[in-house]
Amino acid sequence: MMGECSATLLDLLSRRRTVRLYTSDPVPEGHVRRLLEAAVLAPSAHNAQPWRFVVIETPEVKRRLAEAMAKRWERDLRRDGVDERTIAVELRFSLRRFTEAPILLLACLDMRDMDVYPDRARRKAEWIMGVQSVAAAIQNSLLAAAALGLGACWCCAPLFCPGTVRRVLKIPRRWEPQALITVGYPAHQPPVPPRYPLEEVVIWR
Ligand SMILES: Cc1cc2nc3c(=O)[nH]c(=O)nc-3n(C[C@H](O)[C@H](O)[C@H](O)COP(=O)(O)O)c2cc1C
Repeated sequence: MMGECSATLLDLLSRRRTVRLYTSDPVPEGHVRRLLEAAVLAPSAHNAQPWRFVVIETPEVKRRLAEAMAKRWERDLRRDGVDERTIAVELRFSLRRFTEAPILLLACLDMRDMDVYPDRARRKAEWIMGVQSVAAAIQNSLLAAAALGLGACWCCAPLFCPGTVRRVLKIPRRWEPQALITVGYPAHQPPVPPRYPLEEVVIWR
């Protein structure tokens, strides 16, 4: 396991990987707190800190959440005309990923302290600022996980079924689910996914 302070930030940035499979070793509660503490150090628009988190560690709650999300996804896949075999494979993997991860962190957006505008264009810009702020917090937690020798995966599933997630976890209505972060000790070493060369994604003026 990597020591907490032995990597420079730049090392950490290239070492961090999306890890989707975990050992059954429990994640110490202190480590979970470190991830959350790292998350809330992120920059946020107006320093409004619109991030909210739910720590899901109880197996029964993980199972209920995973099953409810899978059921909802099954409906979408059927509607899309996906064949039954593929649906079964997808749902089995989805159930496993959320029930077998030792810890799930649900990241939400709460617009409570963000600015309010009368027009749609500025409301949208403000909402995007909120989403970006939550994303910055998520990235901080992923980097902290890597620093602690943990693996994590940013999963977008809750975006597709926010009502389901809210209902199962009984979270406030104004918390908008943004992502589930699965966390645990890595059970595999994922290869480095390729990146576009800078020349393709950067314009210098
Ligand atoms: C907004 C966002 C949503 C993502 N959603 C998922 C997801 O639902 N399932 C998944 O396995 N990975 C998800 N990922 C992880 C990406 O697949 C991963 O970051 C990408 O393949 C690059 O790999 P790396 O993180 O190891 O560099 C998501 C990442 C981001 C930023």
